[in-house]
Amino acid sequence: MKLKIGNEKMDMLKFKNLGNEREKIINSSYTDPVKYDYKLNELVNIIHPKKIKVVVSKIIVENLETKTFVLKPVKGVMPNFKAGQYIVLDVFKNNHVYKRSYSISSSPKDLDSYQITVKKVRNGIVSNYLLNEVKENMEFTIHGPFGEFTYNKIRDCHDVLALVGGSGITPIMSLARAINDQIEDFNLTIIYGENEEKELIFKKELDELASKNEKISVNYVLSDEKSSVYETGLISKEMISKYEVGKYSYFVCGPIHFYHHLNEIFKELDVPNKYIRHDIYKENEIELHHIEHTLKVITNDEEITIPCYEDEALSQAMEEANIDAPRRCLVGVCGYCRSKLISGKIKTDETCIREADKNYNYIHPCVSYPLSDVTIKLAK
Ligand code: FES
Repeated sequence: MKLKIGNEKMDMLKFKNLGNEREKIINSSYTDPVKYDYKLNELVNIIHPKKIKVVVSKIIVENLETKTFVLKPVKGVMPNFKAGQYIVLDVFKNNHVYKRSYSISSSPKDLDSYQITVKKVRNGIVSNYLLNEVKENMEFTIHGPFGEFTYNKIRDCHDVLALVGGSGITPIMSLARAINDQIEDFNLTIIYGENEEKELIFKKELDELASKNEKISVNYVLSDEKSSVYETGLISKEMISKYEVGKYSYFVCGPIHFYHHLNEIFKELDVPNKYIRHDIYKENEIELHHIEHTLKVITNDEEITIPCYEDEALSQAMEEANIDAPRRCLVGVCGYCRSKLISGKIKTDETCIREADKNYNYIHPCVSYPLSDVTIKLAK
């Protein structure tokens, strides 16, 4: 039987047989698992190992609450990275491995070491440990570098306006150093918001870079200190509107409430999303109560039930219980921890989850807090 489609006649019998043909080809195909021991993969593992053993070669006190840690590889050199990327640091403490992501603040030119800059976080187990207990010559394991908060000349404008809140300056510092080292080529204007002048990190070096490199400029905004030299208050619509929409890419880096604040301004200024990049970090933003629930975690091999509190992210609870669940950025952005919510109620940051994932109940446990007993299935 032939069916006419346009000027073509289609043989329906042949069409019907296509399924069988396809089945035959699938059945005769190669079924062994893909090999991973190719020479090329060995090379990839050498250039970008999954884990790097590092030693703290120097600690620089930036201010009362902030230190920079210079991490040198135990052997070889560090992998290449793009300014703006981060690493994940494993911290072994109280019989737990805590994983925390830190932006690299050094220039990609110097692969003898990476620098990470850590500011004190209220109730931050890891930041307090790093700031108070870590000494030079201690060894750690890091993973990465990871992240997309990098300059891409095809995607981004030649002029970048970096809007920084607090320790969000760290990846921007790496970008500024990369421009000065001629690794990146774009104009960088930084608006750096802090509470008080004494909390500004890298101020001396930023001022030096701005005075000697015409591609870099920096403005400070202090929220809690009146100053005749700097702007006071929060980074505002008026400050941002001095920079023509369409001519600038906006690189936003700071705590999540800072990001929400700027998003409102971007909406008012009609800034299209394609011009905005962001790298956010979490503070104790969600006000919940220390009420205990249970979290059942289903992996490929087992089911584990652990306690989890309403003011504790599911990833955090798994970390406390030594469950090796995937985690990386810890702010809901990278999607690495994506897991399926099987049952229970959670509070989460909806903006982090794609619409398609919402329809199939996928969540990011690093930004999900239990409101009842919860069961999740790890995707990796
Ligand atoms: S660890 Fe990145 S989204 Fe959860």
